[in-house]
Amino acid sequence: MEVAVAAGGGAAKTPDEIIAKHCNACHGTGLLGAPKIGDTAAWKERADHQGGLDGILAKAITGINAMPPKGTCSDCSDDDLKGAIEKMSGLK
Ligand code: HEC
Repeated sequence: MEVAVAAGGGAAKTPDEIIAKHCNACHGTGLLGAPKIGDTAAWKERADHQGGLDGILAKAITGINAMPPKGTCSDCSDDDLKGAIEKMSGLK
């Protein structure tokens, strides 16, 4: 059992919450060419060319083309974003 504790910088976020609030807008439908949620092959293709999950995480942090920095989740930590990417891509 996990208890969400609101600490200084903001409430704890689960990958599902981050995806629903921030990533789903584009990654749910593949808007602007975004890799779709659950389309592991599309995510793997990207990860394979960019040094794995950490490589695409780095791009998600800085932004890439139509993808805004941190996918608009400006108060997400790197770990928050990584959790969301793992969940959307099915990659570990
Ligand atoms: C405004 C639309 C939009 C939102 C919101 C968005 N993305 Fe993206 N994302 C994109 C697009 C478009 C691409 C493909 C960019 C390209 O390669 O040209 C992308 C690509 C990515 C990639 C692959 C980067 C790479 O190196 O190939 C990751 C990882 C990613 N998004 C994570 C996220 C996460 C996590 C969130 C939510 C916190 C998010 N995105 C929210 C549009 C969005």
